Amino acid sequence: MEKLEQRIRQEGLILSDKVLKVDSFLNHQVDTRLALEIGQEFARIFAGRGITKVLTIEASGIQFAMAAGIALDVPFLYAKKKKAVTLTENLFTSEVVSFTRGETYQVSISQSYLTPQDRVLIVDDFLATGAALVGLVDIVKQSGAELRGVGCVIEKSFQEGRGLLEALGVEVHSLARIASMRPGEVTYVREAEA
Ligand code: G4P
Ligand code: NA
Ligand code: NA
Repeated sequence: MEKLEQRIRQEGLILSDKVLKVDSFLNHQVDTRLALEIGQEFARIFAGRGITKVLTIEASGIQFAMAAGIALDVPFLYAKKKKAVTLTENLFTSEVVSFTRGETYQVSISQSYLTPQDRVLIVDDFLATGAALVGLVDIVKQSGAELRGVGCVIEKSFQEGRGLLEALGVEVHSLARIASMRPGEVTYVREAEA
């Protein structure tokens, strides 16, 4: 998505060769028009797949799942995060080991809101190590719903997330795919080599 790629170049702060800060328009302050356009782009990519529900994880995936849900005219649902506890009654729960945060937490959703009749699109802001997204894929599997794909706003293609998801048989589409980055320079994975 050209507009998104340009915006990352203009406003993204590259904190290291691995960490990109986009707080001015995506992750803290949110450009609402851009968020809605991102939702429309996901809806275009996943049109005709019979999506009945968009699933994300709190917090920073929510605005994009909402935008995709609006564009697809379906509800969105967000998994909640909490420290690992044993009370999992009426919940689908998966454990996530976060390398970035150095902690293990659970992601959960109520069993009431995902059923075997659902066809699910998972949406998130970043695809990095993929740990949290693999947890969401696991939750969809537990529910018996059908996963139709994963849409990410920004993919750091030099990290292992895409490979992990593809190994699970999941179709992944990202709107900006970063091949490498350093201060003042972002290189995207071009369509030709994608
Ligand atoms: P992890 O297992 O190593 O923790 O990696 P994962 O890919 O699950 O990412 C962990 C969190 O860090 C995620 O947010 C993800 O969106 C965010 N993240 C990863 N790389 C970057 C980056 O380069 N820039 C920014 N801004 N965020 C990045 P989260 O834990 O779901 O938290 P939340 O922000 O959604 O509340
Ligand atoms: Na995040
Ligand atoms: Na996120």
